[in-house]
Amino acid sequence: MNLKDLYIKYFEKLGHTVIPSAPVVPVDDNSVLFNTAGMQPLVPYLLGKEHPSGTRLCDYQKCIRLTDLDEIGDTTHHTFFEMLGNWSLGDYFKEESILYSFNFLTKVLNIPIERLGVTIFSGNDFIPRDDVSYNKWLSLGISKDRIRETCDDNFWIAGETGPCGPDTEIFYFRSDDEIPKSYDLDDPRWVEIWNNVFMEYVKHGDGTYTTLSKKNVDTGMGVERVTAIVEGVNDNYMSSIWKDVIDLICDISHLPYKGNEKSMRIVADHIRTSVFISCDDAGIVPSNTDRGYILRRLIRRSIRHAKKLGIDINSDFDIRIAKLIVSKYEDYYDEIKRNKEVCYDVLTKEKIKFNRTLEKGLKEFDKVVNNLSDNIINKDLAFKLYDTYGFPIELTIELANEKGIEVDVLGFKEKFRHHQEISKIGSSEKFKGGLASSGDMETKYHTATHLLNAALKLVIGSDCHQKGSNINSERLRFDFSCDHKLSDEEKNKVCDIVNSWINDDLKVSVCEMTKEEAIKSGAEHMFIDRYPDVVTVYKIGDVSSEICMGPHVSSTKVLGNFKIVKEEASSSGVRRIKAVLE
Ligand code: ALA
Repeated sequence: MNLKDLYIKYFEKLGHTVIPSAPVVPVDDNSVLFNTAGMQPLVPYLLGKEHPSGTRLCDYQKCIRLTDLDEIGDTTHHTFFEMLGNWSLGDYFKEESILYSFNFLTKVLNIPIERLGVTIFSGNDFIPRDDVSYNKWLSLGISKDRIRETCDDNFWIAGETGPCGPDTEIFYFRSDDEIPKSYDLDDPRWVEIWNNVFMEYVKHGDGTYTTLSKKNVDTGMGVERVTAIVEGVNDNYMSSIWKDVIDLICDISHLPYKGNEKSMRIVADHIRTSVFISCDDAGIVPSNTDRGYILRRLIRRSIRHAKKLGIDINSDFDIRIAKLIVSKYEDYYDEIKRNKEVCYDVLTKEKIKFNRTLEKGLKEFDKVVNNLSDNIINKDLAFKLYDTYGFPIELTIELANEKGIEVDVLGFKEKFRHHQEISKIGSSEKFKGGLASSGDMETKYHTATHLLNAALKLVIGSDCHQKGSNINSERLRFDFSCDHKLSDEEKNKVCDIVNSWINDDLKVSVCEMTKEEAIKSGAEHMFIDRYPDVVTVYKIGDVSSEICMGPHVSSTKVLGNFKIVKEEASSSGVRRIKAVLE
């Protein structure tokens, strides 16, 4: 039985209800890009709401942490990992929690107590030292030399505010060296494997803490690390979770793992994370912002390291690796099974896009680096690598670091912002021009544009946004973000949706609100920092809501029949539709 199944069975026996893993992209929560801990989807319940499954819960949760991107390539870190968790919502507390963890490690996994060390909370001005945990560990046979206490590292909170509290962390001595008598916080051979957080407090926006009505337990144990320990390997990538993936990369590159570990681990890790992001039902695709940018960076970095390994990056190496990863997870996570083809498509398209310029970009990089006089890549080259060759700035930094060279990152960012401003002004002028005249037909086309925008979101995905618009009395023209040519089926669907809304004779309403309120309400917007503080929002039935100056018709029936007459590429990642009302 594998670790996940053993863990779930153990906690079920202790009265815990198994809850499903939440998606890696949080639902209805834009405060974080990805779920970073098992507790994240449980925040409302840790704050006091009653959970429908009771007061004892357990699960395995998909997590993505990007803070340590630089550490990827070592033996213990991953951008995606699975976290085993058990929770008490006002049920058991410190002593039972520690006992459950200790028994699982020593009795179920048979980990020798000699290899364990722990830390506890040392106390601060407001919260006392955690004597209960200290004494519990002693009573279980952990010697004083193996218990360390800290203040900051033993207080856990996800982000800046929310439920939190002191924790006790369990470490394992992962090395073939002789086990030292005492546990040393700074010795990297001691690897953290489990964190038990005692959530008694909540931190507020003003920095103050109050006590929660219930005392909760939140625990997290990394599947990758503990599997490696149970299987007796000192490198996570040599455990059954990764071994076959690494073997496949060796096979594809005709290279041994030894001597090529770093790049092989990065390829394996980044492709796995890309599989989980692109299979998520949120429909994330590579882009230059937010989650899409993370996905783009991961895919492009994996390609760069595959190239370093001498892999033919125009081959289907990435899909072969992704397919193996999918086969390992699809029985656990339904979205992987359902969306795997989408994922292969995302990987392939991004690879084709990047490979077109990677070679030339690397040549440009080498040329400049060889002629460098002051050991620093200036902002112009960094920007050229980004703009012309599609190198995320992080990739340029990595390439430079490998040669002991610096990058003028601040200069790059300044140039990047300036460039964004210019293109924004350009498109906003275009946008304004499109709306300048407003006869009857133009007004109708204007309302039809909003319907088209909303329908595209339904057909292409919520990531599809307006990039420009131009209207005259003959037709509307609409630019939007989309990475593929629309199929006939997609075009027909869009037309059908728009026409059904027209036939429903939806009422168009307008109201004024502050810019912040408008954004909060979910109104579509394009040039947010160019709007005044108070904006007008046009709503069409409940299918569309957009910040806009108008004018619009008052209900949709007058629009007649909507027809797409042309669909074509406008620029990279942007498509253009021309449509008429008949
Ligand atoms: N929420 C705790 C952690 O992520 C268990 O470490």
